Amino acid sequence: MAPPFITFEGIDGCGKSTQLRLLASELRLRGREVVTTREPGGTPLGARVRELLLDAREQVDPLAELLLYAADRAQHVRQLVRPALDSGRVVLCDRYADATVAYQGAGRGFPASLIDEVVALATDGLRPDLTLVFDLPVEESRQRAAQRARRGGEIQDRIDAEEIAFHHRVREAYLRIAAAEPHRVRVIDASASVEEVHAHVVRVVTPLLKL
Ligand code: TMP
Repeated sequence: MAPPFITFEGIDGCGKSTQLRLLASELRLRGREVVTTREPGGTPLGARVRELLLDAREQVDPLAELLLYAADRAQHVRQLVRPALDSGRVVLCDRYADATVAYQGAGRGFPASLIDEVVALATDGLRPDLTLVFDLPVEESRQRAAQRARRGGEIQDRIDAEEIAFHHRVREAYLRIAAAEPHRVRVIDASASVEEVHAHVVRVVTPLLKL
């Protein structure tokens, strides 16, 4: 059986990147070969695209933004994700096509038909076997992002700086995607402790990985 392609999604500050690292360690302990990656920025080209996309000083036109995320994904799928799956490794990816539906579709307001076309082109039809949506109230996610910025001196990126209504639209879009595709997409309550969320993630992925 082909190894699974698992994606991690949610609004900014939902804790998905921490959970991805924890799951990767757990799977490696259980003897699975795992590749961890992210969008944007999973390839050398993508890392440069990421810098452009998240730079708060850059004025990025919404259509240019949509196409840059797509360019990052086109390179990522062909250079890294598909080859990794073909060589038998589990791929854990921090954000993927659902992020474009949520952020550029619901957030920026591009029509679903255009988003679907751009996503299909970039992904070449490669869909995740499982998507985990880490769900958190927007107010809580904003507090976490602010705390993180204070702790690490992290600079707010372009999307962090969007108005609160934008983040609400993104969250609702993720919940709609989950409701529309319950077999692929699972919602995880991200307001629980890191350990509790991790235990929930392990319960959800176990059947897929035959652990
Ligand atoms: P990250 O901080 O989770 O790595 O994500 C970077 C930002 O990029 C995040 O604010 C969401 C945004 N994004 C989109 O707007 N569209 C996309 O297709 C992807 C992959 C990310």
